[in-house]
Amino acid sequence: MKLSKTLQTALNDQIQKEYYSSYLYLAMSAYLEAQNLPGMAKWTRIQSQEELGHAMKLFDHVVDRGGWVALAAIQQPPHEYGTALELFQQVLTHEEHVTASIHQLYAAALTAQDYPAQVKLQWFVTEQVEEEKNASMVVEQLKAVGESKTSLMLLDRHLGKRGE
Ligand SMILES: [Fe+2]
Ligand SMILES: [Fe+2]
Repeated sequence: MKLSKTLQTALNDQIQKEYYSSYLYLAMSAYLEAQNLPGMAKWTRIQSQEELGHAMKLFDHVVDRGGWVALAAIQQPPHEYGTALELFQQVLTHEEHVTASIHQLYAAALTAQDYPAQVKLQWFVTEQVEEEKNASMVVEQLKAVGESKTSLMLLDRHLGKRGE
């Protein structure tokens, strides 16, 4: 079945959003390095890499369906993110936006009765549950840390174990 023009445009938009996610996490990683939080810097850096994987999954889907990939400009992410808690609250808000966008895309695939796209997008629906869960867990952990520098350093060390 051929990819509809509407769905193709929506998938291209999502590719751009995944690249922006990658760029955003990379900017956060640089910021966290500058804040002497190497564990969180590593966590966001790994996340940045994962977002590239998401973009490529969609890229491959469009290509495999004989569609046309049109890459768009990636906007500049912010340079500053405030405290670690404020940064992870921004992560959570961002992932909530991405979830809404994935859900819209899935709804478009339902309307188009595009079954291959639905199957592909189911992976993303599940992934977003995980992304929001992880982000809110760190937000809650940072709330518990409060003003304690020692607890912040311990949490940073813990988050730096991601990918090990
Ligand atoms: Fe993503
Ligand atoms: Fe994400």
